[in-house]
Amino acid sequence: MIDYQTNQEGTENVQNSEGILVVDDDPSMRAALVESVRRLGFAAHGAIDGADALERIGRCRPWLVLTDLKMPRLTGLDLVREIKRRAPQVSIVLMTAYGSVETAVEAMKLGANDYLLKPFSMELLARVITNLKEGRESDSIAARGTSDQRVILTQDPGMIRLLSTVETIAASQATVLINGESGTGKELLARFIHSRSPRAHRPFIAVNCAALPDGLLESELFGHERGAFTGAVIRKIGKFEMAHTGTLLLDEIGEMTLGLQAKLLRVLQEREVDRVGGREPVPVNIRVIATTNRALHREVEQNRFREDLYYRLNVFPITIPPLRERLGDIPLLARHFAAKAAARNGMAQPQIHDSTVAYLQRLPWRGNVRELENVIERAVLLAGEGPILPEHCLVEVQATVAPLTGRDQPLQPSINGSLWEMERELIFKTLARTNNNRTKAAKELGISIRTLRNKLREYRDRGWSAPLPSS
Ligand SMILES: Nc1ncnc2c1ncn2[C@@H]1O[C@H](COP(=O)(O)OP(=O)(O)OP(=O)(O)O)[C@@H](O)[C@H]1O
Ligand SMILES: [Mg+2]
Repeated sequence: MIDYQTNQEGTENVQNSEGILVVDDDPSMRAALVESVRRLGFAAHGAIDGADALERIGRCRPWLVLTDLKMPRLTGLDLVREIKRRAPQVSIVLMTAYGSVETAVEAMKLGANDYLLKPFSMELLARVITNLKEGRESDSIAARGTSDQRVILTQDPGMIRLLSTVETIAASQATVLINGESGTGKELLARFIHSRSPRAHRPFIAVNCAALPDGLLESELFGHERGAFTGAVIRKIGKFEMAHTGTLLLDEIGEMTLGLQAKLLRVLQEREVDRVGGREPVPVNIRVIATTNRALHREVEQNRFREDLYYRLNVFPITIPPLRERLGDIPLLARHFAAKAAARNGMAQPQIHDSTVAYLQRLPWRGNVRELENVIERAVLLAGEGPILPEHCLVEVQATVAPLTGRDQPLQPSINGSLWEMERELIFKTLARTNNNRTKAAKELGISIRTLRNKLREYRDRGWSAPLPSS
């Protein structure tokens, strides 16, 4: 059995770091900046030059250094180099006069995150800082999600071969194209590649190309300057730039329109990004991993995907086989998911009955590993303290179904995201606690038995497609 752990490091300091260090040799400028940063709600410290900055970084552990470029003793450029060597987790933004944009670009290559052209407005400063902060936070959430349980499990000989090839190519800078049906583990594999690459401690940024309409996807990827188009009131840093020095995952690349494909190709060839409305291209150093659940070569044949882009992405193609072609993984994965679900719900480690394993191996698994994970999670709750039997594994026929009727009041207020998922989890937990006694469960939930029955039917009709929240 192989148990490939993905790497967690690289973001551990995100939570502990605080405050912003402002480095400027001009005392009045420095004071004004420190004041501005404080008004934005961040702790701020000042440093009089690069050498002073390095000393203070050790003491006040800032998450961001905002530095002037031209300074005595240690220049902004030297400072970037030193910070990246000593404290690579610290973000850096440079402030530069118009004439020295080239040096700023140089600094970006060394790992600075952004630069501000002087003079700049408070509004722009605020935007750059919040963009960076948000980027860091979403990274650390992703890292939590990939904590100890984020492993690629397999005992399938083909998958084991595939993973050992992947380990070799992870070390290179090569673009990787991951093909596989929905739920086969494409994103998991992409994170694994990143974690085994020299960029493991650098950002991993994922963009789902299917999730956004064309125009939005473009500014998401490329960023835009303030005033680039109506509504662009603030400058936005794109994902290409956020992924600078790290890995960019372009999820569902087959969904990208031909227009955007052309722009993406340019980035991959020139290694620079044109912000929408921007004056100069910004150099980026990224490794690209793309995923698709369509046969891209067929899309090329039908003129829906650019051939030149296809060849550029297809440097290292990997196909993850569907779960039904590696039935040997089912017992392994089922046990893993059962243990995970039980632990999450504070239950004893469940037993999976032999008849259940045989049953699971006969199913088509159109939703692949993700579907298996969902089925097992529910089965654990439904089985309660006893062994997991086939009847606990509610695998639903794929059906398109009417939207939620919304007749009932939600059972619990939503903190964020899907109320529906929270409600569903609550229902399953209650059913588990009452040994699947619907009358008792309905009573505990304060709803009628008929409502409970309707809810359960609704979930089933929906094919249980969304995964349960993982906390
Ligand atoms: N071999 C595996 N071992 C353990 N967990 C796995 C494995 N493969 C997939 N998973 C889990 O299954 C779920 C789906 O995986 P993932 O999101 O990577 O699939 P995907 O191919 O990107 O799906 P989609 O096409 O729907 O986006 C995740 O929770 C992932 O952790
Ligand atoms: Mg995915």
